[in-house]
Amino acid sequence: MQKLLSYLFLTGSSALGALALDDVPDYFVTDRKHFAGPKATGIAPFLRATNPAPFPGVSYIPNSPLETQVPIAGNDHNENIFELFGHLSHYFPNPEGFGVDEHSLPTGAQITWVNMLSRHGARYPTLGSAAFAFADKVKNLTGTFEAKDELKFLNDWIFTLGYEILVPIGKQELFESGTLHYYQYGHLYPNDGNKIIARSTTQDRMVESAEYFLAGFFGLGWTQNATLEVIIEKPGYNNSLAGYFLCPNGNKPAARQGDHASAQWIASYLADATERLDAKIQGFNWTIADSYAAQTLCAYETVALGYSAFCGLFTLDEWKGHEYSIDLAFTGNNMFQSPVGRATGIGYVQEILSRLTHHHLQEPTGQVNITLDNNTVTFPLNQSLNLDFSHDTNIAHILTAFGLTQFASPILPTDHIPPLDERPLIVSHLTPFAARLDIEVISAPSPVCQSRSECTYETNAFGKPKDQPTQYIHFILNQRTIPLGRSFAECGERDDGWCELGTFLDVQKDSLERAEFEYSCFGEYDSVPYGNIKDGVPLKKETEREYRPDEQIEL
Ligand SMILES: *[C@@H]1O[C@H](CO)[C@@H](O)[C@H](O)[C@H]1NC(C)=O
Ligand SMILES: *[C@@H]1O[C@H](CO)[C@@H](O)[C@H](O)[C@H]1NC(C)=O
Ligand SMILES: *[C@@H]1O[C@H](CO)[C@@H](O)[C@H](O)[C@H]1NC(C)=O
Ligand SMILES: *[C@@H]1O[C@H](CO)[C@@H](O)[C@H](O)[C@H]1NC(C)=O
Ligand SMILES: *[C@@H]1O[C@H](CO)[C@@H](O)[C@H](O)[C@H]1NC(C)=O
Ligand SMILES: *[C@@H]1O[C@H](CO)[C@@H](O)[C@H](O)[C@H]1NC(C)=O
Ligand SMILES: *[C@@H]1O[C@H](CO)[C@@H](O)[C@H](O)[C@H]1NC(C)=O
Repeated sequence: MQKLLSYLFLTGSSALGALALDDVPDYFVTDRKHFAGPKATGIAPFLRATNPAPFPGVSYIPNSPLETQVPIAGNDHNENIFELFGHLSHYFPNPEGFGVDEHSLPTGAQITWVNMLSRHGARYPTLGSAAFAFADKVKNLTGTFEAKDELKFLNDWIFTLGYEILVPIGKQELFESGTLHYYQYGHLYPNDGNKIIARSTTQDRMVESAEYFLAGFFGLGWTQNATLEVIIEKPGYNNSLAGYFLCPNGNKPAARQGDHASAQWIASYLADATERLDAKIQGFNWTIADSYAAQTLCAYETVALGYSAFCGLFTLDEWKGHEYSIDLAFTGNNMFQSPVGRATGIGYVQEILSRLTHHHLQEPTGQVNITLDNNTVTFPLNQSLNLDFSHDTNIAHILTAFGLTQFASPILPTDHIPPLDERPLIVSHLTPFAARLDIEVISAPSPVCQSRSECTYETNAFGKPKDQPTQYIHFILNQRTIPLGRSFAECGERDDGWCELGTFLDVQKDSLERAEFEYSCFGEYDSVPYGNIKDGVPLKKETEREYRPDEQIEL
């Protein structure tokens, strides 16, 4: 610790993030060389040459930078299929909201604190993605199959993507998010010469995402304003930003029922497409799995290369089906229908509560690394601007661990897409690439009316009494408010979705216990079919199970 403190003192405002001195403790070394994970870059894009636009019958709109004008069968109302890729969607603000409208701050109220949790930006496929098996099959059979019509391109298609690391638009997403956050919250940066600590993980795309964000927020000289702390991301290590690495049960069948639910739905919504495409290719035996991989390749190639010929192969309904397949996977694997739904995100929730109450965690808690969290050098408690970076499923687990049950029910059926008001979660609205959860604390000089329409302009949206300063907490995910009253009755049905801070902290008191970290992540329990688990923890007794037939389809 002595060494560290003198190091921080000596380096002052120099570029800490870029140095790799022997003296620097591992958690401040951001050279992307230790625990960076596997990585490979793909070919350089050449969109000017590969872009088939202008498309017949579509009025020309220049690409910006991605080519998203691809004609889609059945798309009569000009819907954007590029927003139907679930967690593989290029960032876009949630277009529907989460159930309430947005409201401006009442006069005299102040935002005093913010905690941002960001996902990394658009990336190449992760190793193990279905895209690789498909690429392998095409490669093996190239020269022996013959494709025609819209599938003709496959005759000379080769897989040119890398894996795991950010693609160019992913860097832009984070830079833009940093810029946006500077506009929103720049005032919260303490202009006292003290650097803030921002946290990410050691993985290549995680470090890089944080760096692009910070460059967007502060400018290229960001190392004068923030020190980037990277937490080791590797199985068995404690890391609240990648909680699944300390939750072995997460990889067992009991916690993968979302995959089965999704596979069941995939077999149905892609049946027609599979038959249609199989008829266009001789000597290949096009399968459901091939159709699904082709859909993911549309998403991956678009962000990596700017355009993908795979996108035009599917109808609008098939793209809607694709989005829904991802919703099923997330709810069953990572949220309220998963036995590790709460446990995997609980460490981060405890860190937020620790920051909000200005108390260090005193003992090992969930997947928190207590060595890092038990001191102000690596876990400062008084920052008004907190910036953390994480992953899609981890963010989904964190929403679950908070107990945001508005995302829990009704349970998504596996045989049809229900109407919008019966879809508690849509992954492209929760964790697209570069998703961001902003948690604000708002200080008001007196209580703010629960129903904003009842507040007059004269009262400045304040109810009575007018002499009672009140603090609120406000959750904003992808630029739209999550109404806390929907999940926590104690917060009240406020128009603005806020919750009184004290009430919120009270509600969260039992969140750790409810997550059942030990049992959920390390205990022994049966795998129950999708749909039986409703609260993000394992079932207690066999009688809780309502058996559902669950045809398990391998993809
Ligand atoms: C492609 O060929 C290799 C080598 O023969 C084989 O190991 C692999 O399983 C094949 N992949 C597919 C998807 O058919
Ligand atoms: C970052 O820190 C430098 C050096 O203290 C300061 O001049 C600059 O204003 C800070 N940037 C922002 C955006 O506050
Ligand atoms: C906690 O973090 C420190 C600093 O990076 C690291 O040395 C240690 O191995 C971590 N412990 C666990 C259990 O992850
Ligand atoms: C396609 O399936 C048929 C029937 O099962 C089989 O005879 C043929 O070898 C398969 N072709 C390929 C390329 O796998
Ligand atoms: C955390 O720090 C406090 C105060 O320095 C100390 O008493 C406690 O033992 C520490 N706990 C852990 C788990 O390191
Ligand atoms: C890592 O987490 C486990 C489980 O909570 C805990 O037993 C262990 O002490 C933690 N280690 C550190 C360094 O935080
Ligand atoms: C936070 O605490 C540290 C250490 O106690 C102090 O140096 C720093 O000025 C404080 N920052 C703010 C914004 O209060």
